[in-house]
Amino acid sequence: MFSRLYLLWAAGLSLCLIASPLVAAGPCDLYAAWGTPCVAAHSTTRALYNNYTGPLYEVKRQSDNTTTTVTPLSAGAVANATAQDEFCSGTNCLITVIFDQSGRGNQLRQAGPGGFRGSEAGGNDKLANATAAPVFLSGKKTYGVFISPGTGYRNNAANGTATGDEPQGMYAIFDRTHYNSGCCFDYGNAETNSKDTGNGHMEAIYFGSSKYWGSGAGKGPWIMADLENGLFSGASPGNNPGDPTNTYRFVTAVVKGEPNKWAIRGGDPTSGLLSTFYDGARPAKSGYSPMHKEGAIILGIGGDNSISA
Ligand SMILES: *[C@@H]1O[C@H](CO)[C@@H](O)[C@H](O)[C@H]1NC(C)=O
Ligand SMILES: *[C@@H]1O[C@H](CO)[C@@H](O)[C@H](O)[C@H]1NC(C)=O
Ligand SMILES: *[C@@H]1O[C@H](CO)[C@@H](O)[C@H](O)[C@H]1NC(C)=O
Ligand SMILES: *[C@@H]1O[C@H](CO)[C@@H](O)[C@H](O)[C@H]1NC(C)=O
Ligand SMILES: *[C@@H]1O[C@H](CO)[C@@H](O)[C@H](O)[C@H]1NC(C)=O
Repeated sequence: MFSRLYLLWAAGLSLCLIASPLVAAGPCDLYAAWGTPCVAAHSTTRALYNNYTGPLYEVKRQSDNTTTTVTPLSAGAVANATAQDEFCSGTNCLITVIFDQSGRGNQLRQAGPGGFRGSEAGGNDKLANATAAPVFLSGKKTYGVFISPGTGYRNNAANGTATGDEPQGMYAIFDRTHYNSGCCFDYGNAETNSKDTGNGHMEAIYFGSSKYWGSGAGKGPWIMADLENGLFSGASPGNNPGDPTNTYRFVTAVVKGEPNKWAIRGGDPTSGLLSTFYDGARPAKSGYSPMHKEGAIILGIGGDNSISA
């Protein structure tokens, strides 16, 4: 069975300048070439496949509540932010949909209430301000996804994502300067009913400085894994000094998991090398081996819609 891989070049935001133009293979082309094709590929800043020309994201403007979609400038390229700038000129825009480029239709949309209610009418979460996370990618201005507390996206009926103890890998690019210690800024695999259904029912990337469950060296922010009922930074619950405070301007965050084994990796998205911060067994507490992954996808919230980060 293929590993299941999520892709995001955006949460909290993305890439800054990279010195050379995007090369022939996009990130999901590389995953596909290694036999682990992406099953969800989210980015508001760029195509993740060299052949992708479809929608990256949809914005809604406040002046008349109409929407438009933003596509890459050309196949495989960065987003055409001019389309957003023109559409949103003189008004505010919110990001309503982050499209899945993998072909599986795993779009991310406004998260609804779960174990925790959102701050909007009906208990929904907020949508991200479309202009709050500008970032230059290949010398072109694009927009990432600005997550403030209360903002969240979700897909509770994802196609092809890992369930149970199946393996998966995920990565995201974060703005290292934008984080907090609340629970929980996550991107990854979560409960399909938006409630806390127990240990091991999630496997998502966490980024921030929460010390409530786990922590790493220094003051954070750290990359940790939200495995439900705990953020984990290494072999044991609590502090694991092998998980460093991130200092690059932007951070590549990777969490991978397979039966009784998981890993955290991180690096500078502008230079390409990753370091391993943990690679070992699942937590010894009950519920984590085997895992009970459910396969929903979340961005900016915890699996039970915790919205404090
Ligand atoms: C685009 O590239 C992906 C992976 O590199 C491949 O699986 C897919 O078939 C390609 N799509 C088209 C329309 O060529
Ligand atoms: C847009 O939709 C919101 C929510 O339904 C509504 O409150 C608002 O009046 C609408 N604005 C316009 C300009 O139609
Ligand atoms: C980018 O979007 C603008 C506004 O919609 C459009 O005029 C322009 O042709 C687009 N650029 C490309 C390369 O598609
Ligand atoms: C899941 O996605 C695959 C690939 O696009 C498609 O063939 C399949 O029909 C989808 N399954 C469901 C239940 O939508
Ligand atoms: C959206 O973000 C921009 C840039 O930070 C800011 O100027 C604008 O006021 C924000 N809009 C809303 C509705 O908060």
